[in-house]
Parts: sequence; structure tokens; C-alpha cells
Amino acid sequence: MENFTYHNPTKLIFGKGQVQALTEEIPHYCKNILLVYGGGSITRNGLYDQVMTFLKSLKVNVHELAGVEPNPRLSTVQKGIEICRSEKIDFLLAVGGGSVIDCTKAIAAGAKHDGNVWDIINKQVVAEEALPFGTILTLAATGSEMNPDSVITNWETNEKYVWGSPGVTNPVFSILDPVNTMSVPRDQTVYGMVDMMSHVFEQYFHNVTNTPLQDRICYSVLQTVIATAPQLLENLESYDHRETILYSGTIALNGTLQMGYFGDWASHTIEHAVSAVYDIPHAGGLAILFPNWMRHVVDHDTKRMTGLMLNMFDIETEGKTDKEIALEGINKLSEFWSSLGAPSRLADYEIGEDRIDEIAEIAAKEMKHGGFGNFKPLNKEDILSILKASL
Ligand code: NZQ
Ligand code: ZN
Repeated sequence: MENFTYHNPTKLIFGKGQVQALTEEIPHYCKNILLVYGGGSITRNGLYDQVMTFLKSLKVNVHELAGVEPNPRLSTVQKGIEICRSEKIDFLLAVGGGSVIDCTKAIAAGAKHDGNVWDIINKQVVAEEALPFGTILTLAATGSEMNPDSVITNWETNEKYVWGSPGVTNPVFSILDPVNTMSVPRDQTVYGMVDMMSHVFEQYFHNVTNTPLQDRICYSVLQTVIATAPQLLENLESYDHRETILYSGTIALNGTLQMGYFGDWASHTIEHAVSAVYDIPHAGGLAILFPNWMRHVVDHDTKRMTGLMLNMFDIETEGKTDKEIALEGINKLSEFWSSLGAPSRLADYEIGEDRIDEIAEIAAKEMKHGGFGNFKPLNKEDILSILKASL
């Protein structure tokens, strides 16, 4: 393992009925709160009314930023920053999925920054300060509820970046009630499960030695999602399965799996480049790209890939080389995701060859600057070949 320090300041409040914790968790000094939410799912499932009832009991002024889009945009972040300044907002509450939480993080940091918030997002400037914020998560997927990271798209320049300031852009608290995820439609439920599995993969692929406990935690999260996914899709209103998946999504990206090393993260970087150009769901892109990344790097540490596959799927090993086992496992992963209903080709989103050079260029630039591709460094040619295999 490499040396590490782990500090996660987010108070995780998990379980049925926990929304009422809002009244204790919102700091008592708050006068002006900005409620941030998406395109209407929380008004349709009744959560908006519940939250407003609790907020009213606190006698605070509530301002709203509604309509945060999936793959949240810089323009929406800027709108939120303006409200924070004009209304003297002292606390933000994000109610929604990863996009709403990520947008809130950028607003919180941008409101405390004198210059352009884009400089923080494109990592020219490190956010040293942010307004405090809490979250009520409604979709199990990103782990944003318990990490400092945020992903924002500048649609005008086709740039989509991950940024984050540990200790500064972590939520103060996050409330996770499985009931609030019951209304997530089937396709978003599938994307969420693909995303959390992909987060485990990104972290599992590293070159650091002696990580037996971390490896086994990775296998456990993956085995749990693989076992639960088909059952949840049979019954989207199963409390127990929603609960299992909600907890899995948080554990997959709250730093627990990444102690003692930093993972690869190339597939995420390539996906962010794809969705900076084509506005597709993040995990739809991952379901297509990740198996092709795995095939591309299979020779780098075949034993590690084989270990992963044998811990996820039943594979007959008799008379097969490690590489054959690894490749069979990758095919099984693709088949598993397809069986859930995830896409498997860029063509499923009507993405053809015309802009893949541009996408590869964006991803290669980010890889060079951000230290992604830590398991196997990739250059533009590698990225192009993964994209071509994904067409
Ligand atoms: O906008 P509303 O109406 O709320 O609808 C949303 C949206 O259409 C809907 N939804 C959310 N909760 C619901 C619900 N519908 C019914 N019932 C509910 N309870 O689901 C749709 C997708 O929501 P979104 O927040 O976009 O999904 P997700 O949580 O998957 O977030 C995706 C974003 O997170 C970024 C992605 O790149 C993408 O921009 N990521 C953030 C990460 C992080 N901060 O650590 C890491 C990830 O790897 C990822 O990159
Ligand atoms: Zn992800």
C-alpha cells in the first residue's frame, strides 16, 4: 500500500424517514437557504413538499434553483452563484441525484470565489472555501453524496471536467432514504448500478502491491450489486433492494475503496469526453466503454483482471490461459450489463465515427493534465482505438 490519510467529514444519515433529520442538521445560524433541485422528479414523488414543510418549521428564507439538468451545465452553476450573492445565501440544500449535488458543489465554491467559477472547474484554481451544503440523495449512482467531487459541463466549449476540493466541497450531511429512490425509472436505475460498478473497477485497477483487503472489499461490492440488480429490476419498489443498492453506491465512491492507492480512471475520463460532445447519460457511456478499455489493457496485468472476473462470474478455467479467462470475463460483464438493458455500442446513441477524433483529443488532454490512466497510461491513439472498438 501507499501511505494515506483518510478523512471524510460528511455525516451520513441513512434509512427510512430520515428526512426529518433536516431540522437538526441545518445549522441554526442559517437565515437564507438555497434549495437546488432538478427537472421535477422531487415534485412528482412528494419529496419537495416534505422538504418544504421541514424548512418552513425552521423559519428560514428559502430560495430555489430548479431545473438542474442531467450532466449539469456551467450556465446553471452561474445562475446559482448569482442567487447566492444577491440573496446572501448561507446554506445550500441539494435534493436530487448526482447532477444536482455536483451543481450545488460548484455553486457553493463559486459563491466564495471572486473570479470565474470555470477556473475552479477546469482546475486552474483550487477552491479554498465554499458555502456549507447538505444533500438529500434521490438516485443511487455517483457517490457524490459522500465525496468532494463534482462534474460540470461547459456546453459552449464541449468541455466536461471532474474537480473537487477535499475538505472544502464535501457535503456537511447527506440524507439517504431508500424510499426516495423508489420512483427512479428503470433506465436510470440501471445506469446507477453500472456507474457504481464502474467506480469499483476504476479503483481496483492500480499498480500498487499488497492490497488484499481492498481487493476483497471491491469484490464484495461488485458481488452485491450483481446479485441484487436483476431482483431490483423485477420489483423497482422493493425497499430492501433499493436499500442495498443505495448503500452500495455510497461505499463505491466515498473513499473507502481507495485507501492506499489511486485508481486508473481512464474510462471515466473517456466517457466524460464523449458526454461533453454528445449529451448522453454518464453510465450509458461507461457500459459501452469500460469493457473495451478492459480488452485494450488486458495484457498489462492479466492476473489482476482474471482475479476480478473470477470473483464476479462463474467461469470454467480448465485448460484456459489467464488471458482467455480474462477475456471471457469481460464478455460476461458486457452480457450482464446488456441483460439489465444498458447500451453496448455508441451506435445505440447514434454516435458514429464523425467526431471521435475530437473526443479522443479532449480525453487525451485531460489524461495528460489530470494523471488519469494510472493503471495503464493511454495516449490519443489508445483512446481512439477504444472508441473505435465501441462504435
Ligand atoms: O432532474 P430530475 O427531475 O430530478 O430527474 C432526474 C434526472 O432526469 C432523475 N431522477 C433523480 N432522482 C429521481 C429521478 N427520477 C425519479 N425519481 C427519483 N427519485 O434521474 C435523471 C438523472 O439524474 P442525474 O442526477 O443526472 O443522475 P446521476 O446521479 O447518475 O448523476 C450523473 C452525473 O454525475 C456525474 C456524471 O458525470 C453526471 O454528470 N458524476 C459525478 C461523480 C461525482 N460527483 O463523484 C462521479 C461519477 O462518476 C459521475 O461522473
Ligand atoms: Zn461514474
